[in-house]
Amino acid sequence: MSNETTVIGSRAGIDELEEFRTAALGHIEWIFDFFKTVREHPVTSRISPGELISTLPESAPESGEPLDCIFEDFKRQVFPSLTLWNHPRFFAYFAISSTPPSILAELLSAAMNVNAMLWKSSPGATELEQVTLAWLRQWLDLDDGFFGIIYDTASVGVMQAINAAREWTDPECRTRGMRTGLTVYVSEQTHSSSEKAAITLGFGQENVRRIAVDGDFRMRPELLRAAIKADIAAGKKPCCIVASVGSTSTSAVEPVREIADVAEEYGVWLHVDAAYGGCAAVLQEMRHIFDGVERAHSIIINPHKWLYVGFDCSVLYTRLPEIFRRASSLSGEYLKTDVDGQVVNYMDYGVQLGRRFRALKLWYVFRYYGREGVSAMLRESLRLAQLLKGLIESSDEFELVAPVPLSLVCFRHRGGDEFNRRLLAEVNASGKAFLSHTVVHDRFVLRFAIGNFQTSENDVLETWRLIRSAAERIASQGEFRNSSQ
Ligand SMILES: Cc1ncc(COP(=O)(O)O)c(C=O)c1O
Repeated sequence: MSNETTVIGSRAGIDELEEFRTAALGHIEWIFDFFKTVREHPVTSRISPGELISTLPESAPESGEPLDCIFEDFKRQVFPSLTLWNHPRFFAYFAISSTPPSILAELLSAAMNVNAMLWKSSPGATELEQVTLAWLRQWLDLDDGFFGIIYDTASVGVMQAINAAREWTDPECRTRGMRTGLTVYVSEQTHSSSEKAAITLGFGQENVRRIAVDGDFRMRPELLRAAIKADIAAGKKPCCIVASVGSTSTSAVEPVREIADVAEEYGVWLHVDAAYGGCAAVLQEMRHIFDGVERAHSIIINPHKWLYVGFDCSVLYTRLPEIFRRASSLSGEYLKTDVDGQVVNYMDYGVQLGRRFRALKLWYVFRYYGREGVSAMLRESLRLAQLLKGLIESSDEFELVAPVPLSLVCFRHRGGDEFNRRLLAEVNASGKAFLSHTVVHDRFVLRFAIGNFQTSENDVLETWRLIRSAAERIASQGEFRNSSQ
């Protein structure tokens, strides 16, 4: 039998695939143990800046090294340098999950190394993307006029959406370049990726209007209308509005139906950033957060935020895929195929040519949990957020600072900004939980985001105890003794 498994580049005498098999089993065992013992690990990395760099060689090795030696160094050097986003007490930013089915799909995707740029470049990757995005669309009750595309992140997706809005508003841009006067509308609470996209696309920051929000941090449609009117009167051309369903800072759900009225009245593209919040719309009882979303020209939902799919995977739906194609497609001769026109070539819907096979992990996760399993996990996060909200409301020392429509709880100690800064630092330094912060109405606020698939009621209660005891300790220290009210 010929030795077809020997690969050029392998170390002398080593059968690379046999070594891979042994090492892979060891890696999987280690991942299993990691999940079993995850709470014993600190959530946040303890290293100081530059520490990992200083322990690693300055140059790559001349000769190859055994996989088990590399793996040992991962465990000894790299693993402790990581902040564990897949930890059940990771409550910072938006808590996310890479679940077992998602991890297995990533492994297969890495092994196949498929490029989903064209249908022809690997037909199943494109078709699985079409199938899984149709499944998700049904779960969200969006009609089948919505065409789905997977991007890596919502930041890239919103750039493509604003690019499509530009094409729709002023088709000459594609050939003649950006004309001045196109404007974009976000709220004061919209994620910075929308403004960044506008900057990148050449709109100019001075053509981005940041509409003020109401007491619940939601864009005020009457101010949006006034801004658009004023821009038209000044000779500007309103191009795109971005409304949020689940804003980053406080998870505010903006009044999309009223915003859609304004968009339609003035013929402006409406993009809905539902990167985090949209995931909850899988639940029938949460469908109200999608009120009016069906009128958007484009919508983004990140399965990598709250649909149990590992990072990265962001889905964009649009009613106008042709506009995306017009805005982005430009194909070299070598990319032409004999089935163009009959199939979807996803490279035509964005700047990216090469595309990872992300649909596989959606397929694994959706099949493994089913709608019931996904819904049960979403409901549990929502329930735990309400539980925490209740605890904060019944406490004398803490106060809620925003409504809790989803699974993010924003609160603060009554001791003032410096107190809360110290509190956050102490909690995070403990390694037992990880929270993040925001600034709301000029006040420093703690964010407690719930969404990891392993987070239990006990994780939330223990962390709440941790926060309270850290607060008591700080309050007992001299400088804060009289400032806790
Ligand atoms: C509401 C919202 N939109 C967009 C983004 C950007 O997401 P991504 O990291 O996928 O670019 C975030 C990130 O947290 C977000 O919270």
